[in-house]
Amino acid sequence: MISLDALFEAARDVQIRAYAPYSRFKVGAAIATESGRIFAGCNVENAAYPVGTCAEAAAIAAMVAAGESRISSVVVMGEGEHLVTPCGGCRQRIREFARPETPIHVAGPEGIRAHFTMETLLPFSFGPGHLARS
Ligand code: THU
Repeated sequence: MISLDALFEAARDVQIRAYAPYSRFKVGAAIATESGRIFAGCNVENAAYPVGTCAEAAAIAAMVAAGESRISSVVVMGEGEHLVTPCGGCRQRIREFARPETPIHVAGPEGIRAHFTMETLLPFSFGPGHLARS
């Protein structure tokens, strides 16, 4: 079982490495898996702006590349005074590998600021079950 402290530290450590020269807005995301591992990712921007990727997408890619697919909790860390909840696209990305009750914690550099669940951030969502054939 991964502690919230460990997940927070992983998000903080990876946020520093974000490549965000255009927005100057660094984001770190850390995912705990049901198997007890942590995968972290940061946003990576690009001179061709739309090609940039979000921190959550990077963390999910690392998780999948390691052969994991069950998210047990997430910490997203942003800058500034506002709550940096996952963007709409990243809510859908997390949803693919999470449960409705999966905790998603939003943090700033000083600590955890708010707690959400997958379902509260993306209610009535579309997921793999919709494509299941009987
Ligand atoms: N960003 C993320 O990495 N995750 C989010 O959920 C929100 C936005 C990044 C994308 C871009 O590099 C910067 O924050 C400003 O939008």
